[in-house]
Amino acid sequence: QIPSLKDVYHNDFAIGTALNARQIEEKDPAAALLIPQQFNMATPENIMKAEVIHPEWDRYDFDLADKLIAYGKKHNIKINGHTLIWHSQLPPFVHRIQRADSFRLFFNDHINTIARRYSGKIYSWDVVNEALNEDGSLRKSIFLDKMGEDYVTEAFRLAQAASPGTALYYNDYNNEQPAKRAGCIAMIKKIQAAGVRIDGVGIQGHWHLGKIPLKEIEESILAYAALGLEVMITELDIEVLPRNFQGADVNRRMRNDPSLNPYPTGLPDSIQQQLASDYEALFKLFLKHKDKISRVTFWGVNDGQSWLNGWPVRGRTNYPLLFDRQFKPKPAFYSVIAAA
Ligand code: XIL
Repeated sequence: QIPSLKDVYHNDFAIGTALNARQIEEKDPAAALLIPQQFNMATPENIMKAEVIHPEWDRYDFDLADKLIAYGKKHNIKINGHTLIWHSQLPPFVHRIQRADSFRLFFNDHINTIARRYSGKIYSWDVVNEALNEDGSLRKSIFLDKMGEDYVTEAFRLAQAASPGTALYYNDYNNEQPAKRAGCIAMIKKIQAAGVRIDGVGIQGHWHLGKIPLKEIEESILAYAALGLEVMITELDIEVLPRNFQGADVNRRMRNDPSLNPYPTGLPDSIQQQLASDYEALFKLFLKHKDKISRVTFWGVNDGQSWLNGWPVRGRTNYPLLFDRQFKPKPAFYSVIAAA
């Protein structure tokens, strides 16, 4: 029996993971055992996104989302809903809406229907996801286009009315970086100034080996907490592939090329160790600010599940998490345990 992340960090913050249909249907016995042992919160990796839960204008599909809620109840795992308003993974009908008033009908119905259904059953919602550009301005999206910049505040207002007892969060990547952080703070202040409730901000935490921005993360924890918000790390993973194997730098023609996998037989020891020390440094920082951090969620249970095998290019073999493809704890797992 290995140590348990959620037990070791019990007095500090919750420990979460991303889950998919495969895991909540308990198809894999090793995962079925490991998940409730290690995690006390979960975020649906895909099954509450609009394209899954609201495939057509007048049709919702709550099948998998309901199963996730039941799974959480059964295993004492609180669920963070992800996500109500996001420009990505939208069903095609949304992109076909022309009129601003029709778009607003969709927007209201989407938030009301989903948030109300899970009110009292879900712990929290990522109400709005990734609304900002790197320079801190609002990202161009169909939401901005059809509704103007108030759509962010509007989303929180609707979520609050539909699900009054649920914690409401804004979530983004790179929002620990100064310019994006400044935009994020300005956006949050606007929500607060409108008298609308926002409870927390998620820093996704998709970082790179040997390049963890510890200083910016610490500044951000302090700055967001100063707004009266809980701070969370919501999608933690560490990209381990060398720079020339990372997405933007990989020639798209090389998709599925075996040379996309520099470590076909597993991670070399030196990299395992670096991964372990990167995770250790992060968790030491989180612990230093445990009074401000409410949750740390990994973006997947094990390396085999990680989206980084397929993004930004398919056909890679990546090793960003604490458990390997056989669900065996890696040195990084033990360094996170030891940091507690
Ligand atoms: C990713 C999932 O992990 C993938 O399975 C899916 O194909 C694309 O989306 N930021 C987010 C997450 O907020 O929802 C994204 O999840 C990763 C980046």
